[in-house]
Amino acid sequence: MKYHTFENFTALTEALSQQWLDVIQTTPDGSSFALAGGSTPAPVYQRLDQLLSNIDAHNPIKLVATDERWVPDQDTQSNEGLFRRCLSGSAADKRWQLVSLKNASSTPEVATEAINVRLNEQLPQAFSAVLLGMGADGHIASLFPGAPTQHDDLACLAAVHPQTRQSRMSLSLPRLLNTKRIWLVITGAEKRQVLEQAIENNLPVASLLREAGCTIDVFWCP
Ligand code: 6PG
Repeated sequence: MKYHTFENFTALTEALSQQWLDVIQTTPDGSSFALAGGSTPAPVYQRLDQLLSNIDAHNPIKLVATDERWVPDQDTQSNEGLFRRCLSGSAADKRWQLVSLKNASSTPEVATEAINVRLNEQLPQAFSAVLLGMGADGHIASLFPGAPTQHDDLACLAAVHPQTRQSRMSLSLPRLLNTKRIWLVITGAEKRQVLEQAIENNLPVASLLREAGCTIDVFWCP
């Protein structure tokens, strides 16, 4: 784990989005990214959208959510909707393709097998990078405390938010770990302490810390 500490989120956003653009421009065969939702990363996505719009061309980009709420894209709770809003400029220019974690099934449980096939067909084995957030309970993606991190050997699994009971589809831990880079974006002293005590508290993020095959770059600001 390597900390990248910034005075504020604007400085964090600039550093991470430039690093992200660099990965896109130096991955000749096309790059792929798994992206967190939630309230933290939106400015990073908006800044990347600007940077992408300022460059002529680049290699193809594939995006997938690390997890999605089982709601339509129009719903403000939708992570895929968040990506479409934040990356609207580059979306218009077809600069990236989103591989959806949703389909028309009534529940993520029903959809799991079909989404697993889609992920395996449309995404490369290893991501160029996974951008994760973390909850105050130490969850990453929709891998919540005490809940499974994988279903059989599928790339995704259904989940339920422990407080809101909201249905979710999450990438599995092994699928999240199959990546060249991990960017963990958290803010505030509380989340930093949760991260630093994650292993002793056996929180979901601890599995990432224990099993990651690459350095976890933690982007943090107060
Ligand atoms: C989601 C995310 C989730 C998020 C954390 C942190 O869909 O909610 O993918 O894992 O990263 O819950 O959320 P905040 O950034 O809102 O604190």
